[in-house]
Amino acid sequence: MSSSVDRIVNGPGRAFAAGIEVPGDKSLSHRAVIMAAMAEGVSTVERLATGADVTASLNAVRQLGVEVDGPRLKSPGIDAWPIPDMPIDCGNSGTTMRLLAGALSGSSLEATLVGDESLSRRPMRRLVEPLQALGATVNLSEQGTAPITITGCSPTRAADVDISIASAQVRSAFALGAVRAEGESTIASPPGFRDHTERWFEAMGLGRKEDANTLRIYPGEVPAYHYVIPGDPSSAAFLWASAAIIEGAQVVTPNISLNPGRIGFLEVLETMGATVAGEVTGAILGDPIGTVAVTGSGLRGTTVSGALAAASIDELPLVAVVASYAEGTTRVLDAAELRAKESDRIASTVAMINSLGGGAQALEDGFEVLGIGWLEGGTIRAEGDHRIAMAGAIAATAATGPVTIAGAEAAAVSWPRFFEALEALWSSQ
Ligand code: S3P
Repeated sequence: MSSSVDRIVNGPGRAFAAGIEVPGDKSLSHRAVIMAAMAEGVSTVERLATGADVTASLNAVRQLGVEVDGPRLKSPGIDAWPIPDMPIDCGNSGTTMRLLAGALSGSSLEATLVGDESLSRRPMRRLVEPLQALGATVNLSEQGTAPITITGCSPTRAADVDISIASAQVRSAFALGAVRAEGESTIASPPGFRDHTERWFEAMGLGRKEDANTLRIYPGEVPAYHYVIPGDPSSAAFLWASAAIIEGAQVVTPNISLNPGRIGFLEVLETMGATVAGEVTGAILGDPIGTVAVTGSGLRGTTVSGALAAASIDELPLVAVVASYAEGTTRVLDAAELRAKESDRIASTVAMINSLGGGAQALEDGFEVLGIGWLEGGTIRAEGDHRIAMAGAIAATAATGPVTIAGAEAAAVSWPRFFEALEALWSSQ
């Protein structure tokens, strides 16, 4: 990433109302790119996410012989992937690294996956057992981190695995490897994962949800496909949070993925007192899409734990921001996984709130925020984490002073034009 940029954000300090279309969903975009690379032929992806993370997936599959031309991805297919002549660089993107590790486990290649400093610190050991059960060899650093060297196995061995964390990335990695087996495989985990891969596999005839937590994967070829990506609820969440903070402010976001594993944050906002209206307008590959409107009104503290914490995991820094503008204490529990994100998000969230005059405290598996109804502003450090950079900007919504974000360029990982969208929202009447 380029050198650190300071950005000063002044909130609107008044109500606003706008309809804003957010970029395509990041999770679904990674899946579309990697599945298009596995398929032989031309796939197209409409409304692919625009951030650096999905660009990392596109660059990675280029090393596997995929030609990318705008929305067209032409692949030789997994059986004809060339041996990459360099390690595959996954940048800052954990989803690229973990899903690609799964896809590679069903190829006949040996390939090494590397990432930037933050990705090189993130836990990868969780991939080893599931992918080895399929017959792949997985080598990691001694710390259980990247570089990851995968020696694929084609066909893979059918396997039944049960993992101890509710990780969509690990489940998806396994599914992408297991579809290359000669028999049926299953993966089970605790609940709380986003089930995009499960829904897509079911819609494409590659698998079936056996029960809420178990996916059965059939052997088969991933087909070349025309993917349409809905808007990213994790991007829309920043705008929803800003509207929730100011009484009478409203944002309407059309064409958003409403996958239940992604919209826990809306339930949190509603419990805190915001008005949330959602309308399902259709479905793409089994994933519901629709319009969400959030209107601000008086906020109160809440507790976010268990399945709700899992279904709002990427939005928990925003929960801390909204909680600062609420009355009473908010607790986020059962969210130790936050420590394994692009930054240690328990530490970076608590530091963000405290730097802005709020009252936050780290807990072992989450954090606690004392809602005082306002923030002062100040300087925060994004810590190379896109969600912290953007949450810091949202904290400026009703702050009494400006918020300076050191390292604001991190926002480009998921939403390069975030600050422009926020400006458009805040200048609306
Ligand atoms: C993702 C799954 C989640 C999420 C991440 C994207 C995905 O991570 O936090 O931002 O696209 O599958 P885990 O699988 O580690 O829970």
